[in-house]
Amino acid sequence: MQGDRLTRGGGSADDSAPSIEMVEVGFVAAESQVRQRVALVAGGTGLTGAALLRLLLRNNDYARVHALTRRPLPLDHARLANRILRFEELGSRLMGLRCTDAYCCIGAAGGPRAPVAELRQVDRDLVLAFARAAQAAGATRLVVVSAAHADSRSSRPFLACKGEMEVALRELRFPSLEILQPGPVLGLRRGAGLADLVRLALLPLLNPLLRGNMEPSRAIAAADLAAAMLGAGRSPRQGVYTHAARNLRDLAVAGHRPG
Ligand SMILES: NC(=O)c1ccc[n+]([C@@H]2O[C@H](COP(=O)([O-])OP(=O)(O)OC[C@H]3O[C@@H](n4cnc5c(N)ncnc54)[C@H](OP(=O)(O)O)[C@@H]3O)[C@@H](O)[C@H]2O)c1
Repeated sequence: MQGDRLTRGGGSADDSAPSIEMVEVGFVAAESQVRQRVALVAGGTGLTGAALLRLLLRNNDYARVHALTRRPLPLDHARLANRILRFEELGSRLMGLRCTDAYCCIGAAGGPRAPVAELRQVDRDLVLAFARAAQAAGATRLVVVSAAHADSRSSRPFLACKGEMEVALRELRFPSLEILQPGPVLGLRRGAGLADLVRLALLPLLNPLLRGNMEPSRAIAAADLAAAMLGAGRSPRQGVYTHAARNLRDLAVAGHRPG
């Protein structure tokens, strides 16, 4: 609408209509608001996190991207700040940092096959610690990766930990909480072996067979999961939303759009 007015020129017969000058000021204000958004990302050294960082830096949604990692990122960009820290010390190490949106894609190595103790420590406790630190730094939106069929009552430790994490995150009452629930996340991780390559080749072939209540279990490429995270971050909606299956694919389309 505003763009339309600008190209048609000023001199509207309606005195209440904004002048070109006012409209331009509006544009500048909206643009600077976009420029002021700051992202805080956890898990940037992982498969999904690395893809997310590449997307955030390729697009202009954020004026600054703070990546929290426990080892240095192999990335250099004018808008990227890499803080290397132990996640157990998050609260005390983020003093003075401000952000608007937080993205969390940390997870225990091995994902669903990780030992229970690690799942509890990383997928539940460290995700929560990150969420609290992000909230203290001003984040009003949290986009977090959980898992398809996450349920705190599940007998499967991975799904139970993710379910417990979701319950605890809801209690933090972010104005906007976007929970992504993917099936297997595909891509080449550090130290990938033959079994991983076979998985990478076979799982996409099974996707069309997974329908109905099995559809959330479809495998997703890490690049698409990362795009879904950005898609969720781009949405202006408020409240708590969980995304699986088709919703996740729609978000990925939104996140892959240049912005
Ligand atoms: N893999 C699957 O099939 C699958 C399925 C459903 C959901 N998910 C979820 O999807 C998300 C992304 O998965 P992904 O496969 O992209 O993960 P990934 O490649 O294994 O990366 C995990 C990230 O978490 C970080 N991390 C692990 N333990 C940590 C700790 N103690 N302190 C700080 N950082 C730690 C890793 O840091 P380092 O690089 O320093 O180790 C890395 O950045 C995870 O939440 C995962 O649970 C995965």
